[in-house]
Amino acid sequence: MSNTPILRAQGLSKQFSGFAAVQNVDLNIEEGSIHALVGPNGAGKTTCFNLLSKFLQPSAGDIYFREQNITKMSPANISRLGMVRSFQISATFAHMSLLENVRVGLQRSSGLAHQFWLPKHTLRKLDDQAMSFLDLVGLSGAAEQLATNLPYGHKRALELATTLAMNPQLLLLDEPTQGLGHEDVEQVTDLIRRVAKGRTVLMVEHNMSVISRICDRVTVMQRGQILAEGSYAEVSRKPEVIAAYMGDEAEEMQT
Ligand SMILES: Nc1ncnc2c1ncn2[C@@H]1O[C@H](COP(=O)(O)OP(=O)(O)O)[C@@H](O)[C@H]1O
Ligand SMILES: [Mg+2]
Repeated sequence: MSNTPILRAQGLSKQFSGFAAVQNVDLNIEEGSIHALVGPNGAGKTTCFNLLSKFLQPSAGDIYFREQNITKMSPANISRLGMVRSFQISATFAHMSLLENVRVGLQRSSGLAHQFWLPKHTLRKLDDQAMSFLDLVGLSGAAEQLATNLPYGHKRALELATTLAMNPQLLLLDEPTQGLGHEDVEQVTDLIRRVAKGRTVLMVEHNMSVISRICDRVTVMQRGQILAEGSYAEVSRKPEVIAAYMGDEAEEMQT
C-alpha cells in the first residue's frame, strides 16, 4: 500500500432542499485497500457513495482521483480513468449470454463498443478474455446461458465479471451482499477478496461480519458526518460507534 490516496474527498457536502445529507466529509482511500463506508440508517452513506461515484453533484467540496480533480466529471468519464461502479442489477443484459455480457464490458473499455462488425480474430480474443473473467468469478461453466436464468447470487457475480472487464483500478461496490442468502454472502465476500488483488475497493456494506473479514479500513458515518475511522477492530470498540448503532437499533425497534 502506498501513501498517496487513489481517491480523496475534501469538504464534501450535499444538501437536499436545505437538509444536509452529507456535511464536510474528508475521505482518503488508500491504493490497494478494501475500504468500507458504514453507519446507521440515514447516516448519509448512499449519498456519499453517489457523490464519489459521480451519480450526484456535490453542493460543496472536491473529489480527486489520483490527485486529478474529478468533481465535475461524468460517471462515463471517470470509468475511463479507471474508477468503475458495480452492483446495479439493471446493468446486466437479461437476454444475452453470460459471455456476451462480459464481452460488452470489454468492448466498452477497449473502445470497440460502437462497431457492429468485428473481425473474427478480434472477436475470438474478446471471447477468450471474457471467459477468463467468468472463470475468475466461478461462472465459466455457464458461459452460454442467458443472464436472465441465473440465480440472484450468480447475477451479482456476473455483474462483477462485467465490471472487471472494464479494467477498474478502483471498484465501487454498493451494498454487494444486500438481498443475498447466507451462502451467497460467503461466496460474494470471497469473490470481492479475490478480485481486490491488485485493485482498490470502496464499498458501502451493512454486514459487519463481511466487513470484519475483508476490509482494511472502515469509515463510520453518522448524521452526514464522519464519526470514526480505522480498522474494523479499532472502530468497532469505540464508544461513539457503539452508541450510534444502538440508537439506530432502538429506532428500528420502535418502528
Ligand atoms: N434525494 C433526496 N432528497 C431528500 N433527502 C434525501 C435524499 N436522499 C437522501 N436524503 C436524506 O439524506 C439522509 C441520508 O440518506 P442516505 O444517504 O440514503 O443515508 P444511508 O444510505 O446512510 O441510509 C437521510 O435523512 C435521507 O432521508
Ligand atoms: Mg443507503
